Amino acid sequence: MSKFELNKLHISRKKEHLNLSLSHEFSYNSINSGLDDYYFIHNALPEISLDEIDTTITVFGKKLDLPLMISPMVGGIDEAGKINKDLAKAASIAKIAMGVGSQRVAINDKNLKETFKVREIAPDIVLFANLGAVQLNYGFGIKECAGAVDMIGADALFLHLNPLQEALQVEGNHNFENLLEKIKGICEELDKPVFAREIGFGISGEVALKLKMAGVKGIDVGGSGGTPWLEIEKARLENSNLKEAAQFFKNWGIPTSESIKMVKESCPDIFLIASGGVRTGIDVAKAIALGADMAGIALPMLRYVKISINACLSYLKEIETGLRIAMFCIGVSNIRQLKSSLSLKKY
Ligand SMILES: Cc1cc2nc3c(=O)[nH]c(=O)nc-3n(C[C@H](O)[C@H](O)[C@H](O)COP(=O)(O)O)c2cc1C
Repeated sequence: MSKFELNKLHISRKKEHLNLSLSHEFSYNSINSGLDDYYFIHNALPEISLDEIDTTITVFGKKLDLPLMISPMVGGIDEAGKINKDLAKAASIAKIAMGVGSQRVAINDKNLKETFKVREIAPDIVLFANLGAVQLNYGFGIKECAGAVDMIGADALFLHLNPLQEALQVEGNHNFENLLEKIKGICEELDKPVFAREIGFGISGEVALKLKMAGVKGIDVGGSGGTPWLEIEKARLENSNLKEAAQFFKNWGIPTSESIKMVKESCPDIFLIASGGVRTGIDVAKAIALGADMAGIALPMLRYVKISINACLSYLKEIETGLRIAMFCIGVSNIRQLKSSLSLKKY
């Protein structure tokens, strides 16, 4: 298949992912993030003022108003330019971080770069570039990684790890051999930090440790319990053995809460992002109390941005309010205290 035909295939897959994930049929995941299994010990005497609570964090020297990121989603397809720009506008106003979707298609076809560029709209946000790590086995190397970062003026690069997703795609990239060594090479050569992330099946402590030893500076667990990727990929499959086999993976993956705990235990100092089913301010608070530095939200932001930037901002305000009230009722006045709080318990 020529490079041009391959890119056409990736673009049509991206469109299918966008449309399927927005369809209400796929709003349910049979696994949950595990965050609901936890509760905070209520503090009836917090001895702090709700109005004085500080939810800011600093990432790459930039101050965020909330420990939150709009997780990577789109790029390359027609509607992606507007979606990314509107998300960036919301991120800039709310002072949170953002990642763009996989830039592979724009590395292969420079006409698509525009759909990823958001710096003019959001000059100061913490911005992550994005490529699939498996592309390092399919011709990509440091030139393409640096190209993805430069394309959007990113602060760091996400390399996403998605073996189950690729395995469920007939046209997927199935060769994950010797990737760690190649990731190590990118970490050594790229002049920006490299973060690794799953897209919805979680990262174990063991894998996180290998990635850390390879030079990865941050991990986004992308745990199970959020957007139901298994169902989305299954819907794309024609009737086949693969579709039959796929149904038995519906409970596969490490729930987000467990993945945070595993990575925190094996790599206590790595920058840790909690994503996969994070939906409320209390979820953000729980993720941080479990050990994350920041949380990430994907699909709800996509649903809101299709309505308007204001709808995104209103949802982000709801998250902020929930986080502040949770912190108030635990009795912690900043994110550092929330992170070291011992008041989170399992039911
Ligand atoms: C339409 C869509 C496209 C996505 N594309 C990417 C991608 O290109 N790269 C990536 O790292 N993650 C991608 N993701 C995964 C999200 O960043 C996130 O890890 C996942 O959806 C779980 O978070 P959620 O439960 O908040 O949606 C995509 C998610 C959605 C909904």
